[in-house]
Amino acid sequence: MPLDSQTTALWIQPTGGPLGADVYGIDLCRDIAPSTFATLADAWARHLVLRFSGQRLDDDGLMRFSRMWGELDRVPLGTGVEKVNGVAASAVDWVTVISNVKVGGKPIGGLGSYESVWHTDMSYNPLPPRASLLYAIECPPAGGDTGFSNMELAYDALPADLKKAAEGKTCTHDSSRNSAGEFRRGFKAVSDPRETPGAVHPLVRKHPVTGRKSLFLGRRVGAYVQGLAVDDSEALLNALWAHASQPKFAWYQRWRIGDLMLWDNRCSMHRRDAFDETARRVMHRTQIVGEPVMAA
Ligand code: OGA
Ligand code: MN
Repeated sequence: MPLDSQTTALWIQPTGGPLGADVYGIDLCRDIAPSTFATLADAWARHLVLRFSGQRLDDDGLMRFSRMWGELDRVPLGTGVEKVNGVAASAVDWVTVISNVKVGGKPIGGLGSYESVWHTDMSYNPLPPRASLLYAIECPPAGGDTGFSNMELAYDALPADLKKAAEGKTCTHDSSRNSAGEFRRGFKAVSDPRETPGAVHPLVRKHPVTGRKSLFLGRRVGAYVQGLAVDDSEALLNALWAHASQPKFAWYQRWRIGDLMLWDNRCSMHRRDAFDETARRVMHRTQIVGEPVMAA
């Protein structure tokens, strides 16, 4: 039997929510045949978020599977896997730790145990990542659920006046804060959103694979719709965010050890519930380089 054949049949089970599907019958440690990958890619295009449960991935396995979706993105400075943990040196550059765990008083990863608000990953860069992959190594008994929301549905369901107001506009994506709204090192508050640092992208984008349109909001704080008076920009963004944050567009992942989530940053947003800081949550994460944002 060739190495790349897996004996169980692949089975895609939609969550029943506005996005997301489970992929059953695949062991991500093993080679994945091109035909199997084509099925995964098709499922991802349909469902935006895929969950692979019961996996046993080390960082090499995570990187190998991640690379099937495109070029790995280098981790932000200072957030990589610690070399001292006996991890392959190569993982240091490509695998980020998301964790509240502290060793010797020092956090081993990012994002702590607090809530993170709705966002798209690193859209403040000129080439925002196509995808992120998050793999659960340790999970708290409760809390820390991750919500995903479908920005294609949100776009389609926009009231006509809002759709018209958003169409053809571009927006600044704030590079000064993290997904918890805290300032990154070296950044401070600006009171005028017209001075927010970060990339400018179309508010409505077209998916390069499916051609579908979606709202591309990034994150609310510091956002500014180019060309509008500040008050008008704030009013439009408030209306778009109130619309896009409705629970009807969202589905929540309740983490179990061995879950790998793959999400499409081009057409979905995500957030995370807070959890008890004395519980342990350890995730390893990769990110895939994206393409220029196409206006719809
Ligand atoms: C991320 C992120 C959410 C979580 O890794 O980009 O937003 O559940 N994580 O930890
Ligand atoms: Mn994120």
